[in-house]
Amino acid sequence: MIELPCEGLRVFVSATPAEAERAVAREITELLTRAPEAVLGLATGSSPTGVYQELARLVASRRLSFARASSFNLDEYLDLDADHPQSFRRWMREHLFERIDLPRKRARFPVQDARGDSSAAACARFEGELLAAGGVDLQLLGIGRNGHVGFNEPGSARSTRTREVELHPWTREDAARAFGALELVPTRALSMGVETILDARAIRVLAFGERKAEIVRAALEGPIGPECPATYLRGHRDVRVHLDLASAGLLASARAVGLDA
Ligand code: GLP
Repeated sequence: MIELPCEGLRVFVSATPAEAERAVAREITELLTRAPEAVLGLATGSSPTGVYQELARLVASRRLSFARASSFNLDEYLDLDADHPQSFRRWMREHLFERIDLPRKRARFPVQDARGDSSAAACARFEGELLAAGGVDLQLLGIGRNGHVGFNEPGSARSTRTREVELHPWTREDAARAFGALELVPTRALSMGVETILDARAIRVLAFGERKAEIVRAALEGPIGPECPATYLRGHRDVRVHLDLASAGLLASARAVGLDA
């Protein structure tokens, strides 16, 4: 793993995603050893999947426990049942929660309650729970093809908090295969805001593969602003971006150290 000289955040390039995933899982293990009641911010998608596999392995071998920890997921589709095959609650159950010892009642999502309160009330409740838990110690993050973080789509202001959002056409297109058809993909979601994400004490971003190379370049080296919400990460006090050779391929900083050869 080598570190690239980047402004505003630390960028690490690994030979393979597995190397980066082990490094992030190790950090989470160290955090939970030091602070068993730590609060984790969790993401869905292909980017964090390997980290979750590694965490499940560490729990199975009793080298890690989430028994006193809690978690807050970044986002969830609006009006999707918790058991819907594409809901993020189900995804998290299948990829992580069923395989670790985190008490389920301390795994939170921005979702409406059983009585179907308004999305504004649900978002306010989520922010309140986050505050009561003392904020996120370590936030895991992927980057969408259009530069979104969570579901903070292009156009999102830096000052946004948890709220209802409209999904970008690319986001819905990317989800269409999993849902079976574009019309079946929800048009709206509840998402932590940019500022909610930036409140985390540490942020670990994962982006692998050639299809992320373009957006990684925009996020790390393009102009900072709402057109690419991932650019807001630059300047956060403790953010590390983990890339592989393919996703780092278009970075000027990678070229500068001869990594693209
Ligand atoms: C989804 C999620 C994001 C995720 C992104 C990238 O829309 N809401 O939190 O980071 O897409 O997904 P992937 O990691 O599969 O590339």
